[in-house]
Amino acid sequence: MSKDKLKQYIYIVQSSKEIISCKIGITNDLERRLKEYNSMTGKSKDNIYQYLFTCEVSDMKQVEDDIKAEFKHLREEKSREMYFYNKDLFEKYVDFIKSHKMFAEEIFIKAGVQKEVVKIVKRTTPTLKERGLSQIDVINKAKKVSFDEFYTRYEDVEKELNMYDAEIWKDKTVFCNCDDAIGDAEDKNNNNTSAFSLYFIRNFEKLGLKKLICTHFAGVVDLFNSGSKGYIYTYIFTKTRTKEFKDFPKGYTGSFDDPLSLKILNEEADIVCTNPPFSRMIDFWDITIKSGKKFIIISNIQNPITTAYIPYFKENKVWAGYNRVDNYLNPKRELVRAAGTWYTNIAIKNRQKYNHLKIVPLKKIPEKYKEYDDSKTLLVDNCYIPSDYKKPFAVSARSILNGLLEKGYKIVEDKSYRGNKNGKKSYSRVLVQKV
Ligand SMILES: C[S@@+](CC[C@H](N)C(=O)[O-])C[C@H]1O[C@@H](n2cnc3c(N)ncnc32)[C@H](O)[C@@H]1O
Repeated sequence: MSKDKLKQYIYIVQSSKEIISCKIGITNDLERRLKEYNSMTGKSKDNIYQYLFTCEVSDMKQVEDDIKAEFKHLREEKSREMYFYNKDLFEKYVDFIKSHKMFAEEIFIKAGVQKEVVKIVKRTTPTLKERGLSQIDVINKAKKVSFDEFYTRYEDVEKELNMYDAEIWKDKTVFCNCDDAIGDAEDKNNNNTSAFSLYFIRNFEKLGLKKLICTHFAGVVDLFNSGSKGYIYTYIFTKTRTKEFKDFPKGYTGSFDDPLSLKILNEEADIVCTNPPFSRMIDFWDITIKSGKKFIIISNIQNPITTAYIPYFKENKVWAGYNRVDNYLNPKRELVRAAGTWYTNIAIKNRQKYNHLKIVPLKKIPEKYKEYDDSKTLLVDNCYIPSDYKKPFAVSARSILNGLLEKGYKIVEDKSYRGNKNGKKSYSRVLVQKV
């Protein structure tokens, strides 16, 4: 029996195919756990899981719960322990764990490149104390980093919005309900203006817009240094000149669900365009889709296989836009990565990504991309889709994002599908069926 079994560990593991996220988990046996990851159902051979960090703790459940509470904004999905990953965030996770009162000892484990055999090696990185940091410093630092404060880059807004028919904007009021618009539109650095607001101000006449309304959220972090009061910015074009004004209604929070924001949404807006805060994504989708307004927004690429959003895809109330968005700017204007994509309810013309779908008879799907789980449900990967299979089968988010639901297939269950293979849970997917 391995001595690991008596001990309690926290680990951070990452798949070589998904380097923008990591999983923070607990185990009594680090070696066995890593082997489990690397023999998971549906995992391709060239996808290798490696530990990024491991340590021993005195109560792993407690530490895990505290990590969940501390970094809830950095979790990709509420049901899984997947966290967004970049170098800075990784440091925050490690700092938090190492400063926890139940932290016992740091360990570093490296997976062998050829044989996926794990080797335990002691690490010698400086402790928090050696680095002159207290637990409070670390917690405060971690709290400030949140995916809510990831800016969209101008080029990403432009690349997507330029794809839509010019007609959709004509005489319309665009509502950017999570966006500040305070900078000078001529300012080439545009550090003080959301890329959405800037795009619509710059292209107002060309698009033939009627009005642009942007609202500023009076949150704790004042991203655009624009003051802590919620405000409404309005931009209109009269026969002779443009007019812009900013209003600070008393008691207005600027939140997209503030009564005044909802009034604008319901009574004035035609098209909602924004990248909403990650931490409020579910509410944002709910409010936006229920409003019945058109929208073009950015959200996580996993939404099509996440229970909270699946009903919208199932009912055809939303589909993927044209592009993915992987790069953002953090409040320090540094490039950061997160797996986002555009979603809309506006028609997509000639979706290029249909080309990624491989719709072929079941027997033509390579063995490594199809299998049946313990309940005999067919799981397919790598965007292979059986053209002659009558029963429901499970696909990944990518197939939905590539337009599968526009190719004669429908979602058949309102929640994500996670089958078991030999008793082990496989990846989240969604159940679809040929219409
Ligand atoms: C992911 S950032 C994107 C910012 C901007 N829309 C862009 O695309 O660059 C989300 C923004 O929403 C703001 N925010 C957070 N909670 C909000 C709320 N309840 N209502 C409106 N905006 C909110 C954040 O402060 C942040 O500026």
